[in-house]
Amino acid sequence: METKRKIYIFDTTLRDGEQCPGASLTPSEKLEIARQLERLNVDIIEAGFPAASMGEIEAIQQISKALKRPVICGLARMVEQDIDAVRQALKYAKKKRLHVFLATSKIHREYKLKKNQSEILKLSVEKIRYGKRFFDDIEFSPEDASRTERDFLVEVIGAAIDAGATTVNIPDTVGYALPNEFGDLIQFLVRKLPALGSEVNLSVHCHNDLGLAVANSLAAVRNGANQVECTVNGIGERAGNAALEEIVMAIDTRQDETGFRDSFTEICAEEIIKSSRLVSRLTGMVVQPNKAIVGRNAFSHESGIHQDGILKLRQTYEIIDPKRIGLSGSQLILGKHSGRHAFRERLEKLNFHLSPKETDAVFERFKRLADQKKYVFDRDIETIVEEQMSRIPETWQLVYLKTSSETGEKPKATIRLKQKKKVYEASSSGDGPVDACYKAIEKIVKMNVKLVDYAIQSATSGKDAVGEVNVKLEMGGQEVQGRGTSTDVIEASVKAYLFALNKICAQFGKVKRAPV
Ligand code: KIV
Ligand code: ZN
Repeated sequence: METKRKIYIFDTTLRDGEQCPGASLTPSEKLEIARQLERLNVDIIEAGFPAASMGEIEAIQQISKALKRPVICGLARMVEQDIDAVRQALKYAKKKRLHVFLATSKIHREYKLKKNQSEILKLSVEKIRYGKRFFDDIEFSPEDASRTERDFLVEVIGAAIDAGATTVNIPDTVGYALPNEFGDLIQFLVRKLPALGSEVNLSVHCHNDLGLAVANSLAAVRNGANQVECTVNGIGERAGNAALEEIVMAIDTRQDETGFRDSFTEICAEEIIKSSRLVSRLTGMVVQPNKAIVGRNAFSHESGIHQDGILKLRQTYEIIDPKRIGLSGSQLILGKHSGRHAFRERLEKLNFHLSPKETDAVFERFKRLADQKKYVFDRDIETIVEEQMSRIPETWQLVYLKTSSETGEKPKATIRLKQKKKVYEASSSGDGPVDACYKAIEKIVKMNVKLVDYAIQSATSGKDAVGEVNVKLEMGGQEVQGRGTSTDVIEASVKAYLFALNKICAQFGKVKRAPV
């Protein structure tokens, strides 16, 4: 019978992740992230580097007191004071691990540590033995392992296991390894030291300097590693660490692949998005929109062909169900690439049940609008439908709009409007850019209308919020209302004004005007 191999997820967001420039966290922020990591169900949380400060020790103590399930780990150099700091930091932890590291590569030995191989070996054994007096669970990392001579690496790791290390971690400290090479290194180590990956946990810790941290970690899993060190959103020193969400979802998604068929993690994938957003908000490290799994665009589709495919069968363009990682669903962005299928779907969602003919007419207006602006929001669609359904002919169509305002100068506006096939243009100044636009429109349309009300509000939130303008125009004792939306409030104002004007034209019949 096939037995599944658990891959332990060792999260180092609060240690290596926090080491990235500008990402430092307050103790209460660290605690908030730690609680979320517990909900995410990571196996081990590396909560920090206790020797760094008393504040760090206290922060780790708080985490240790609050968390029940995961192992809490503290990092130490091969120095007794560092190990004592970890003891102090972890004194309240229900499950604890000491993580000691020492560089083993030639370049680090000669230039950084100024120690030879036997000194490194002796120091490692001595300090692991010291740690063993206080900790059952000890992880040893030969820093820069991927650039260490293989024979020496085997020798140090063997000695560390004999001294009491229960997990051996192989760091690709500078992100130098390539997947085939790193996988081969792991295979080599398992062959030389068969306890690795069974009695002794075999971990990997990959940095992303060549963008290969996740690929290297996965190559290691395929070749015998049973623990992966990673961070939420891949934050960490320099180009970062392997991203937790990518490793977890790759193993989960590619269960068909021989290397992962027998492997699983116990991560609660539904907590991935929440974890990503929390870490991004508290560290201030913005997630790039196209970041795998957690980027804003990872489950967004704009092309009409893709939207059509998604609506027929989600799997045509999505390899992961967005609900699996805690999102509400795929996002179809309506823009100029969108097709009829996605548009119809959105109309239904907005509760507009139109006939095929009406849908065609609204779709045409939508396409025209999408040519002018990047994204078409639900409020825009509502306006389009409202305009279409009220059967108000677009007597006047906005073709072009330019405004200028500067301190000490009266704002100016130039407007071009189309009526049938003719285009009219006028310029005007005004008390503000909106007033200038309205005056320019009056010059073109030459209708005796009076603006009796103007109100502006935000229809969506965020930096690119859509402004919604409502106006009331009066003509011949009758008031009409118009609404316009746009990310540009001047444009929204003009659209609202024209909407109301077109209603008037519809009510009063054709209004005579002179070409400019
Ligand atoms: O990158 C590295 O080598 C480390 C060790 C401390 C594991 O962060
Ligand atoms: Zn690291």
